[in-house]
Amino acid sequence: MNIDIDISKVTLKTKRLVLRPWRMKDLNDFFEYASVDGVGQMAGWQSHKNIEETKEILNSFMQNRNVFAIEYQGKVIGSIGIGEYDEEAFPEFEYLKCRSLGYVLSKDYWGQGLMSEAVKKVVSYLFDEMDLDLILCESLLYNKQSIRVQEKCGFKYYKDIEYLTQTDDVVKLRISVISKVDN
Ligand SMILES: CC(C)(COP(=O)(O)OP(=O)(O)OC[C@H]1O[C@@H](n2cnc3c(N)ncnc32)[C@H](O)[C@@H]1OP(=O)(O)O)[C@@H](O)C(=O)NCCC(=O)NCCS
Repeated sequence: MNIDIDISKVTLKTKRLVLRPWRMKDLNDFFEYASVDGVGQMAGWQSHKNIEETKEILNSFMQNRNVFAIEYQGKVIGSIGIGEYDEEAFPEFEYLKCRSLGYVLSKDYWGQGLMSEAVKKVVSYLFDEMDLDLILCESLLYNKQSIRVQEKCGFKYYKDIEYLTQTDDVVKLRISVISKVDN
């Protein structure tokens, strides 16, 4: 089952990063990376066409209280969302406290281990502070760098599924999981 999450008063620190709630003043940083082609598409969304679109999504992040901004050297360069997994698709997790992670990093910062550093911290927070039993992560099957991030953070292959997108395309998703007992 999905459990309630509210990160609106939570700040986590790693060696290089600050993970904290989004603020409206992050709007330009957010638009800067979300408008670049080839970033959001890997996570299943289209790059932002204008700053109004970014503002709307930033507002939803703040209202939903479940997405961390990733701050590096004073600039927001990405996000980690603690989303709800599909309870109907995974009835076997009914008695476990679960959530699903999704993440995006500015293209300018790929390949430096930053997302793995951020994901490890959020995983520890969810197990140690929020007492979750299981965390899921899904990636497009061809998104090798995302699957690699999951491996580096201790997630294990669970299964591959087919998913029908809003544009009626069938895509393959890799589902990985990490459980509290393995962490
Ligand atoms: C996925 C993403 C967050 C990774 O961020 P990152 O900070 O570059 O990740 P890390 O540096 O921690 O790790 C990336 C790993 O993937 C590897 N990698 C990169 N490109 C790869 C490829 N084409 N095939 C296989 N591995 C690849 C890197 O070598 C690295 O592994 P290593 O440390 O063993 O060498 C970033 O690429 C991104 O934002 N992509 C677009 C959005 C997205 O895909 N989000 C995930 C949706 S769930």
